[in-house]
Amino acid sequence: MTTKQSKMGKEKDAEGLADPVNAVEKYVDDFLARRPLPGNLREAVRYAMFGGGKRIRPTLVIRCCQAVGGSMADALAAGGALELVHCFSLVHDDLPAMDDDDLRRGRPTLHKHANEAMAILAGDAMSGLAFELIAQRVTDGKLAAGLLRELAIGTNDMIAGQVWDTLPDFAADVPALKRLQTIHKNKTGALIRCACRMGGMCGGVSEGQLEALTRFGDAIGLMFQVVDDILDVTQTTEQLGKSAGKDEKQGKLTYPAVMGLDASRAEVARLGAEAKGALAELSKNGRSGAETQVGLTALEELGEYLMVRMK
Ligand code: IPE
Ligand code: IPE
Ligand code: MG
Ligand code: MG
Ligand code: MG
Repeated sequence: MTTKQSKMGKEKDAEGLADPVNAVEKYVDDFLARRPLPGNLREAVRYAMFGGGKRIRPTLVIRCCQAVGGSMADALAAGGALELVHCFSLVHDDLPAMDDDDLRRGRPTLHKHANEAMAILAGDAMSGLAFELIAQRVTDGKLAAGLLRELAIGTNDMIAGQVWDTLPDFAADVPALKRLQTIHKNKTGALIRCACRMGGMCGGVSEGQLEALTRFGDAIGLMFQVVDDILDVTQTTEQLGKSAGKDEKQGKLTYPAVMGLDASRAEVARLGAEAKGALAELSKNGRSGAETQVGLTALEELGEYLMVRMK
């Protein structure tokens, strides 16, 4: 078991399906295999979906579901759908019209591997497939409607954040730190908040628990992008599997650029403590049980891992 896997809460079983990462990858693989698609589009979607990725968002969906008393199986459709949206956001983020990146997850970006039109269209398709996956696989109609709404909000907030990230004149009269928070809470925080909320919903969350999960998601969502900004200036391209040092070259508004590295690290610690507090609140409101404990412990470990991750 590697450190990263254990931090993300890997458990052993014969087929490795008690591991959230394997379980969700197998689930999406199966969904795509059954979905008729033009051959070259299927290849492009599979290229963007598989062959790397930490799978933080589906892991969060699964662990949040367990933390409120649900099972891993209850969360696979929502987790798979969210990872499809995340991978779509990466494909479009890397396009020449956006961040113009050639490397992602240690391989050529999709527009380099295939071509630009295919990268645009595969991203579009992954977005549609995500919603189709939930509509098709979640049989409880009320839950499906709630998940679709949550995923739509997360996706649209992510897109709003990406728009602000690529428009340098966005709210020029607002102080830089405030603008930066708005961008990061949307472009990255929105899907992570969505992961925690959808996970809770899959596990039959109560109102109080959903509030605590949302607080947790908001804290680690913003933290995730602060860490991403720090890694961009402290790590190498080889370590990251994506081009390092790009943010400064492109004049992006980032935490290190606005407040420096030390204050950015202090912000990560502050958000980590906020996330921990939210989990304490969640466990006070929760039911007891083995699955719940597995979920809570994994979320605690995941919160800590996200503060110190190196890629
Ligand atoms: C990268 O996300 C894009 C951001 C939102 C910062 P991840 O760091 O989760 O990327 P993968 O999925 O592990 O490649
Ligand atoms: C990405 O932010 C946010 C989304 C993809 C929605 P970045 O542009 O910083 O992500 P990386 O560094 O390219 O992964
Ligand atoms: Mg970007
Ligand atoms: Mg980028
Ligand atoms: Mg980045």
